[in-house]
Parts: sequence; C-alpha cells; structure tokens
Amino acid sequence: MTSLKPFHTFATDADCQQLVTIYSGQDLFRYLTDREASFMILGGGSNVLFADDFDGDVLLNRIKGIEVVDEDDNGLLVSVGSGEIWHNFVMWSVGHGLWGLENLALIPGTVGAAPMQNIGAYGIEQDKTFHSLEAIDLEEGTRRIFYKEECEFGYRDSFFKKEGKNNYFITKVSYLLSKLPDPVLGYADVASRLEGKKITPKAIAGEIIEIRTHKLPDPEKIGNAGSFFKNPVVEKNIADKLKESYPTIPCYNAGDQVKIAAGWLIEQCGFKGQVKGNTGTYMNQALVLVNHGQARGNEIYQYAVSIREAVQDKFGIELEMEVNVIRK
Ligand code: EPU
Repeated sequence: MTSLKPFHTFATDADCQQLVTIYSGQDLFRYLTDREASFMILGGGSNVLFADDFDGDVLLNRIKGIEVVDEDDNGLLVSVGSGEIWHNFVMWSVGHGLWGLENLALIPGTVGAAPMQNIGAYGIEQDKTFHSLEAIDLEEGTRRIFYKEECEFGYRDSFFKKEGKNNYFITKVSYLLSKLPDPVLGYADVASRLEGKKITPKAIAGEIIEIRTHKLPDPEKIGNAGSFFKNPVVEKNIADKLKESYPTIPCYNAGDQVKIAAGWLIEQCGFKGQVKGNTGTYMNQALVLVNHGQARGNEIYQYAVSIREAVQDKFGIELEMEVNVIRK
C-alpha cells in the first residue's frame, strides 16, 4: 500500500495499491498493457476527496511541455502537456502578454483537469480559449483529438465528466491565446483594484492572485479542494420565490435559469467558519471545506452531507458536490 497524502490537497490519510507516474503517452500505453489492478488518474489532486482508500493503482499525470504550434498577428495556438501546473501555464501566457487566461490565475490543479471540469473564475471559463485536446482512449488504447464542440463544455462540466467519464486520459490541451486586448472586468472587485493602472494580462492576473489569496485557504497550510459544491442553477420562478423570502440572496443570470451562490446558502445555515472536529468551512468562504490537520476523508464527506441536508431543509435546494469523491 502507498500513501496518497502528499498527492492531494485535502491531505487526508488515504492509501492506494501502487502509485505510477506517467511522463508520456508511451508510459501510459506500457501501463495499460501490463496492468493488473483497476486504476484512477490524478493530476494536481486539487479537486478530489478520498472518503475511503482507493482499491487500485493511482496514475500520477506528469506529462510536461508548452509548445507554440501556430502564430499570426492576432495570437497563437499553444499545446500544453496535461501534467503541467495550470497556474504556471497562466503565468507563461501573461508573461508573453497574451490575453485569455489572466482571470484564471492561481486556480490549483493541472492543465489536464482544466477542460475536464471547465474551470472558471472571475467571469472567464477555460472554454473561452480552449481549442482542442488529445486524449488516449483507455479501452481501445488509441489516441484521439477532441475539438471544442465535442467536449460539451458547461458550468463546471464537460463530456469527460459525463459519457466520457473514466474512459480517457487527456495528454495535451491546446489553447488559442490572443495578442489583442480583451480584458474581462465584470467583477467589481477586479475592476476597482485596477482603477488608474495600466490594464495588461499580467496586471489582471496580479489582482486576481491577491483576491484569491485573501479569500481562499492556501492548501499548503490548510487542506482543502476549493469550492466543494457547485453553485446551484434553478428555474427562474424558484429563484423569484426565494427572493421574496430572502431579498439579499445573490443570484446571477444563467441563460433562462438562475445561478445561486452556494456559499451564501451555506453561510445562512450557520456553517461559515465553523470548526467541527477536524473539519469545517473556511472563515472567509463557506463554500470551501477544510481539513484542520487530522481529518479523515470520510469525516469531511459526512460533514459535506450534513451541509447538503441543511441547505435542502432550509431552502429546498439540492447542492451538488463539485469535488470528485472517491468512495468504496
Ligand atoms: N458568499 C457568501 N458567503 C460565503 C461565500 C460567498 O455570502 O461564505 C456570497 C458572496 O458574498 C458573493 C457570492 O456568494 O455575493 C459569490 O461568492 P464568490 O464571489 O466568492 O464566488 P463563488 O460563487 O462562491 C465561484 C467559483 C470559484 C471562483 C469564484 C470567483 C464555483 C463553485 N466556485 O465561487 O471557483 O473562484 O466564483 O469567480 O463556481 C472553485 O471552483 O474551486 C472555485 C474556487
């Protein structure tokens, strides 16, 4: 048995049978030919909760490399190894003065996980600049390219979380980055911090890094996996009814529907900053569950279930876990 504690940001004790580091597609093909156990793939381990041990092998994705594939006056197409750290790639892009990823600075995890859950923050989701990805079909043992339309991107959602779940290992992701200014400053917090300053991708990323550092716990210090739940999306009539009873409820347009801030719902149920045994929620953001040091994965999971039940009882809304929970 091997401990997974250093390889996931909740940093709970959990074991797997064997850890296998994958540096290339060839490594993966070799593993697939010889494998004996079931397996799961881990990138940065920043969106997973091991509620139990994992009864199989864990493949650590460490496929690296950033390669410019095409370039013209407007921008460039860049292909990135899926095991690169996402934030390093964002810093590479803003360092070259390119637009498109600056609002996504400091999101934990690897490049391969970005399309999987269509990461997003401060008004941008990764599908805005996503071009295509290369993946290995784990059953057929073949490589396949997926273009944007085939990835079925939605809010924290993609083909790889639905029909494609557990069937593919993403090896490379390509993004189309722009040389032409395209700032997204819809968040008042971001816009006000930039007042009077020169607006560049690097300047925006710098402010976002500060906001995130203040609001979200550093996994190096307090184990966590970012937002534990998705913000629920409900029909407009349901949101209108809730607004009558709770006039301050934060609501955002999501097409014909309405997205509600899960952090607010959780705070209203009295969980914000709560310490419960070894777990709890972060004092500045109730949507983030934390490990105060010695939590078992299952303790955090049971706590999450109690939050989901409280929100259901008070507001009649079912929260969906955004974090990938591994259970027997
Ligand atoms: N709020 C509260 N109490 C809380 C937390 C939030 O009342 O404890 C209210 C805030 O006052 C605000 C609203 O909820 O009015 C939204 O809060 P915030 O701006 O912090 O964003 P969020 O909706 O909670 C989402 C993403 C984050 C992303 C931020 C910024 C999801 C599940 N989460 O959080 O992504 O950084 O927006 O764009 O969509 C992640 O996915 O791990 C993540 C951190």
